[in-house]
Amino acid sequence: MFNFTYANNTVIHFGTEQIAKLKSAITKGQKVLLAYGGGSIKNNGVYQQVLDALSKHEVVEFSGIEPNPSYETTMKAVELVKKESVDFILAVGGGSVIDGCKFIAAAAKFDGEPWDILAKNAPVKDAVPLGVVLTLPATGSESNSFAVVSKLATKDKFAFGSPKVQPLFAVLDPSVMASLPERQLTNGIVDAYVHIMEQYLTYDVNAKVQDRFAEGLLLTLIEEGPKVFDNADNEIRANIMWSATMALNGLIGVGVPQDWSTHGIGHEITALYGLDHAQTLAIILPRMMWEMRAEKQDKLLQYAERVWQITDGDNEQCIKLAIEKTEAFFRSVKMGTRFSDYQLGYEVVEPLVAQLERHQQVAMGETKAVTLPRSRSIITESL
Ligand code: NZQ
Ligand code: ZN
Repeated sequence: MFNFTYANNTVIHFGTEQIAKLKSAITKGQKVLLAYGGGSIKNNGVYQQVLDALSKHEVVEFSGIEPNPSYETTMKAVELVKKESVDFILAVGGGSVIDGCKFIAAAAKFDGEPWDILAKNAPVKDAVPLGVVLTLPATGSESNSFAVVSKLATKDKFAFGSPKVQPLFAVLDPSVMASLPERQLTNGIVDAYVHIMEQYLTYDVNAKVQDRFAEGLLLTLIEEGPKVFDNADNEIRANIMWSATMALNGLIGVGVPQDWSTHGIGHEITALYGLDHAQTLAIILPRMMWEMRAEKQDKLLQYAERVWQITDGDNEQCIKLAIEKTEAFFRSVKMGTRFSDYQLGYEVVEPLVAQLERHQQVAMGETKAVTLPRSRSIITESL
């Protein structure tokens, strides 16, 4: 296992009726920016619960943070934060609203051109404090220090990370999942699954705790995922929600190599063709696993045995079957796993390779083995 220093400073308020905790979670007298997306919170009661909890706070609102939040939209909120001298940002939504708010929080205190935070990894020295009410379990953004923001004008989708934008608290009420459309439930399960895979499926460093935590989370998603669609109860939702948070709150990623190459290609697919984040991952991951089967052989066999109970056959047969089971699981939670499922074909290959090259994504993964020719092959095999 590698050395590591670990802290996760986000306080989690988990369970039904926890939104009321906002009242004490945000310091009395602070001016709060209540930021949200396209308005789903107004139809499912979350907005009213938030306003009730903040009845003693001064609240300024910013709405319209879109899925795959844009620099263009978030910069409007930055102006508002400055003009209103906001003390605290409350993100109410899914990963897009949370990520947008992380960028707003950092950009509002940034000396210089805020796009540099994303494009040039400019250090974030300060940020407006922020908290979260999560409405869509998927990204883990509610308790990590990362954000992904797009610039529409240039079709760039970049990530940044800073401890300054780690949410101070996150409210996780599984009952808010009741209003999620099927497509977003699917997205959440698959995104969380791939987050676990990209921290687990690398090379063995004898990190037994991280491996078994990761396998436990994968098994939970496999067991509970398909049940979340029809007549789901709050127990099923709670298990999915907590799995998605645990998948990317840092815990399973400490002390182990990580491989974010499926996400690397996925972000380019969203930037160029607008697919949902998780849809891109479901397309790429199975072919990434197969392409990298030599480098990842030990962990692929461990995954096959411990997650899918596959032990019969030679190594290649076991790996092939584990990948097939993974793709079948994605399909069982109603996710398309090929470009053709989204009416895309051969025309995507070269633009995606060019975009990866433009962003210097030419040696991705834990051993930098995902080169451009291998990315081209993975994309082509995923049509
Ligand atoms: O806009 P609103 O009204 O909020 O509606 C949203 C949106 O249309 C809707 N929704 C959310 N909660 C709902 C709901 N509808 C009904 N009932 C509810 N309870 O769902 C739609 C999608 O929301 P979005 O926030 O875009 O989804 P998600 O949580 O999947 O976030 C995706 C974004 O997160 C980034 C992705 O790249 C993408 O931009 N990621 C962030 C990460 C991080 N910060 O650590 C890691 C991930 O790998 C990922 O890259
Ligand atoms: Zn993701």
